[in-house]
Amino acid sequence: MAYRVPFVDPAKNYRMIKDEIDAAYFEVMSKGDLIMRQQLSSFEQNLARFVGTKYAVGLNSGYHALLLSLITAGIEAGDEVIVPAHTFVATASAVVNAGGTPVLVDVGEDYNIDVDKIEKAITPNTKAVIPVHLNGRMARMDGVMELAEQHGFAVVEDACQSLGASFDGLSAGSVGLTGCWRFYPFKVLGGYGDGGAITTDDPDVARKATLLRYNGEDRETGEYHYHGITCMLDNLQAAFLDVKLRHIPEWIERRKGIAESYRRGLQDIEELRLPHFNDKRYHDIFQNYVIRTERRDGLASFLEDKGVEVLIHWRRPYYSYEALGVKSRHFPETESISKQVLSLPMNVEIGDDQVEYVIQCVRDFF
Ligand SMILES: Cc1ncc(COP(=O)(O)O)c(C=O)c1O
Repeated sequence: MAYRVPFVDPAKNYRMIKDEIDAAYFEVMSKGDLIMRQQLSSFEQNLARFVGTKYAVGLNSGYHALLLSLITAGIEAGDEVIVPAHTFVATASAVVNAGGTPVLVDVGEDYNIDVDKIEKAITPNTKAVIPVHLNGRMARMDGVMELAEQHGFAVVEDACQSLGASFDGLSAGSVGLTGCWRFYPFKVLGGYGDGGAITTDDPDVARKATLLRYNGEDRETGEYHYHGITCMLDNLQAAFLDVKLRHIPEWIERRKGIAESYRRGLQDIEELRLPHFNDKRYHDIFQNYVIRTERRDGLASFLEDKGVEVLIHWRRPYYSYEALGVKSRHFPETESISKQVLSLPMNVEIGDDQVEYVIQCVRDFF
């Protein structure tokens, strides 16, 4: 179906920056610079600068950013890692594949880990916590870092959805041992295929991740230091991401503008909860514009019929899948979220007329 308002419009996004992307493509292809060349280093430097860390290591996914972070944090069999119950499955899968056990904690009304509930989940086996900055909003990192200091565990930030967000002056991905990034095509910063990264201030972590992403090999000496993984960021993707990174400040402003239009157009609907939480310490960048209502399924099909594409993150909590073998199972807020949330189109390609149309459709439903 051709949507009147698609959730994202990657072809239109390409047209917006076509000259720059085509130039980057030409530069890489004409020189044949495909693996670990200048474009990768340039992107890594610019990403680190943007996030506010000393280092960035380009990888092919957010999952691998999490996995390598946990390996460098020393997670081993028997170690417990605290993760939110409401997140993308990859957060927990990285823990399991690193050999650890995910220990789940419910989230609060802003969809991020409920910091007040973390303490109860801590045991002598707790070795790390992964706060996820979901939907473009940071988790409450002051509380997380305080607990980490008290109990001596590592903090790995899952910042896959929050490039450019901050909390109380702390920028997403710069607070914990590492920040983990995903450049899936439809993220705030999205490539044209797979992409991810780790940001960190720790030179040892940066070096180990750099070796692990390429089979554990030191490319300068040819020596192997670890059993590694093949998971680096392609040079061509890095070149594209470097172009797009330049646009991020202006694109975040656009997202905030769209969020403000949604807020103005929808705030008087009593049955609807909007993602605006009155706390000036947060700078949210609206990776997703998540609205919440008990009539979610009706609203979703109404909008689809009107040609408005919506997404639901997620209809079923990952821990409810038997096959994943996650032991902790009952999280009331996560369960209610899975029945009530829906994400409206939120991207920099969307026109003001389309935003107004979405608002009108939502109003018509209620
Ligand atoms: C919250 C969160 N964590 C982790 C990931 C990484 O997942 P993957 O690299 O498998 O896409 C994503 C991906 O979009 C994500 O949204």
